[in-house]
Amino acid sequence: MARLVIVSNRVPTPSKAARAGGLAIALKDAIQPGTLWFGWSGHQAPQTSSEAKITNFEGVDYATIDLKQEDYQNFYVGFANSTLWPLLHFRLGLMEFRRENLEGYRSVNEIFAKVLAPLLRPDDIIWVHDYHLIPLADELRRLGVKNALGFFLHIPFVPSSMFAALPRGEDLLHDFCAYDVVGFQTEEHRHDFLDSVRRIIDFPADNDGVITACNGRKVRAVVTPIGIDSGAFRSQAIQAAKSRNTRRLTESLVGRKLMIGADRLDYSKGLPNRFEAFNRFLERFPQHKNAVSFLQIAAPSREDVSEYAALRHQLNRLAGDINGRHGAFDWVPLRYMSQSLARSTLAGFYRFAQIGVVTPLRDGMNLVAHEYVAAQDPEDPGVLILSNFAGVAAYFEEALIVNPYDPDEIAEAMHEAMVMSKEERQSRHKRLFEKLQTLSAQAYCDQFLKALSGAQLTRAAA
Ligand code: F6P
Repeated sequence: MARLVIVSNRVPTPSKAARAGGLAIALKDAIQPGTLWFGWSGHQAPQTSSEAKITNFEGVDYATIDLKQEDYQNFYVGFANSTLWPLLHFRLGLMEFRRENLEGYRSVNEIFAKVLAPLLRPDDIIWVHDYHLIPLADELRRLGVKNALGFFLHIPFVPSSMFAALPRGEDLLHDFCAYDVVGFQTEEHRHDFLDSVRRIIDFPADNDGVITACNGRKVRAVVTPIGIDSGAFRSQAIQAAKSRNTRRLTESLVGRKLMIGADRLDYSKGLPNRFEAFNRFLERFPQHKNAVSFLQIAAPSREDVSEYAALRHQLNRLAGDINGRHGAFDWVPLRYMSQSLARSTLAGFYRFAQIGVVTPLRDGMNLVAHEYVAAQDPEDPGVLILSNFAGVAAYFEEALIVNPYDPDEIAEAMHEAMVMSKEERQSRHKRLFEKLQTLSAQAYCDQFLKALSGAQLTRAAA
């Protein structure tokens, strides 16, 4: 069987593998003994590594390189997170472009390719993840790598008129087309990508998402939504609900309901809008005062990017305002923590929370929505309030779908969730939970790897 090689900016280094989140969990079923996972170590060093440090953990090889400060700055802080991230989250006003950042981004991709290429075997299947590494396939091809190469974009794609604002954006579209398979979370993201390819670089693309690139080479754009193992997460939630942390949380609420939000501290997550919505909810529906607390967990993220530091200050202030205005000597309406919590702790909190609030302004998918649904007790489930602009909204019609830019609409959904009958909660939850079976981590891996294996066969036959 062909070996799978995963490449991503961050690698769940062995010591963290057991408690790693996100990608490591989504890829659990694809990762077998023998798999190679390659990427950045997460460390800065005096020099960017010219060879990988390889550690084997439970049969999987984790190969990482360090980045020097300048590379970290230009590649990660600069082009990836100050240019591409805001652009692809529809925040042109926050997009900063500097040529040195673009050059740094390209040069780190070149280094990734140079260090990875000697580790590759002829029949490896290579699956590259996310916006940090769009040029990697082209760099590997320049080094003579002939393997099947797939890329999955975890974040949204934007309409072509917006993408056109990116200086040298056409080069990046060519880079996408150096892969054999390019995957997206939703049909909308794929559609917008294909539209950019057609309009900006003039490559024809058919309605099945097959692009004809230079020399007639075919690139397939597919939709393979990421998911979770809902059964495992449900079991984790049932266990965690009996834990000391969940008990402490429930006792501290003294019978009040709980709304919960858990996000990275990122401007794409719409946290100020969410806080304002909770403020409106308390103003417009005062019957719920003292009957509910909102726990918002915001895990600090990308603190070297100035927008993130500014957001942290803004949220501290807003949380203080809300509690100052609405709080009572024995009730804190908004419990706000800018700290991260273990996924297992969150599982118990989700199970207990009557309302899950997932209201990003834009999001590739948002697995918190999946986890909240999976964690619920089907006999007495909570209600999910979900942004129309999270990728998952394309699949979860049974959630209370809101426009995250309208705090009143979120406030109304909060009220609706507070008073929703048990029958309605059960029937919405049942349908959502069924969807989790098709939107599973395993289906994500199977679908993407099937497309990539198809590309490998085509390459072998050529
Ligand atoms: O959702 C996109 C993403 O890049 C994930 O791949 C990653 O786990 C998360 O954001 C955290 O970002 P960072 O690696 O910048 O801390």
